[in-house]
Amino acid sequence: MSEQISLMEFNKALLQFIADSPTPFHACDSLAAGFAQAGFTRLDEASAWQLRAGGRYFVTRNDASLIAFTIPAAGSAALVNGIRMTGAHTDSPCLRIKPQPELRRNNYVQLGVEVYGGALYNPWFDRDLSIAGRVDFLRTDGRLESCLIDLREPVAVIPSLAIHLDREANQGRTVNAQQHLPPILSITGVRDEGFDELVLRWLREYAGRPEADRVLGHELSLYDTQPPAIIGLHREFIASARLDNLLSCYLGMQAMKEASDEACHLLVCTDHEEVGSSSAAGANGPFLRAVLERIIAAFPAGSANPTEEFERVIRNSLLLSVDNAHGIHPNYADKHDGNHGPVLNQGPVIKINANQRYASSSSSVARFKALCLQADVPVQSFVVRSDMGCGSTIGPITATGIGVETVDVGVPTFAMHSIRELAGSEDAHRLYRVLRQFYGVRDPAA
Ligand code: CO
Repeated sequence: MSEQISLMEFNKALLQFIADSPTPFHACDSLAAGFAQAGFTRLDEASAWQLRAGGRYFVTRNDASLIAFTIPAAGSAALVNGIRMTGAHTDSPCLRIKPQPELRRNNYVQLGVEVYGGALYNPWFDRDLSIAGRVDFLRTDGRLESCLIDLREPVAVIPSLAIHLDREANQGRTVNAQQHLPPILSITGVRDEGFDELVLRWLREYAGRPEADRVLGHELSLYDTQPPAIIGLHREFIASARLDNLLSCYLGMQAMKEASDEACHLLVCTDHEEVGSSSAAGANGPFLRAVLERIIAAFPAGSANPTEEFERVIRNSLLLSVDNAHGIHPNYADKHDGNHGPVLNQGPVIKINANQRYASSSSSVARFKALCLQADVPVQSFVVRSDMGCGSTIGPITATGIGVETVDVGVPTFAMHSIRELAGSEDAHRLYRVLRQFYGVRDPAA
């Protein structure tokens, strides 16, 4: 198989993973399915864990965050050498349907939506939108249950206002989220059902849940039904929703599946990054620490003091915080620092910020660059313009939470937080090769 074809296959599988994961719940489900298929054992946070040396496990929280880890074959003796962690996030900016969303105006049925995260509004107009998420319901036998639902079909649209009705549109039309973003779902009178009734029908028709009796809660979002694609004159690019940050989740999963049993390896993919990570399942919550404490307690290094046990392991650990970076856009090149403008298809980017919006230090940067050298992968760097504010990631949050040495990295992209983002078709596979190196995979990457 030629290198070109295998790269194509790799990208197709990556894009299929993203297409199968329209919401953080579905992303978590896709990751769980991938790990289960690779022989990882699912753990339940509410049960006692019997971890064994050489074991491979995963655990989820709130159906939207997941941690997978491998226990070294040598158990405690290897664990004390530290944990190799990779972190990413399962959520992306989107339009979330409000609890009582029904709007009936001018003969149209519309849905009230709340903006989740820092979405770019304009790209949401004139798209064939579908709906997916989690629904909590009461069954006919009186029990509570929740399930994931994905309509897959385009059922909603947010039409633009014609330019004839706003001649100034191209000089700066503003979008008011409350007023301008509610999508049109239907025309009134076609079928008269309330939103909860509609969701109940969807549960029966799309999720195969005839036992659903009453909808009690939902976290449903809109998403674009246009499938991801490999594009460009020479197929230089991959275009998709949610490249930020399902691309990194997928790379982490694929590398973890092959992780060696010589060290403890871990992947943490959390929800709520786009809204600050402060939640029970988010990176600013206790999920990672709780899992680390359980791992470390199961394989003690011989200290009587649990804090000392924890610190001995964490001091030897490294976290790769993997999230996409901003490639330098040729039409807006002045938005970048001239010396730090990453280019698509020239390798993963190390993100650095003196004000600690990124957690990279010269030491963690050196460790990442050494991995890139070993994997024979080129590497770039990003520093925001000195007169502009800087984004952030789970890197500084996790470093602050557990004190682990961290480096912020990711593939360069365009259109971050648009409904359709763009990355280079070679960079994902390169970063995957670096993650394999990190996880101690010996054979050369396919
Ligand atoms: Co991100």
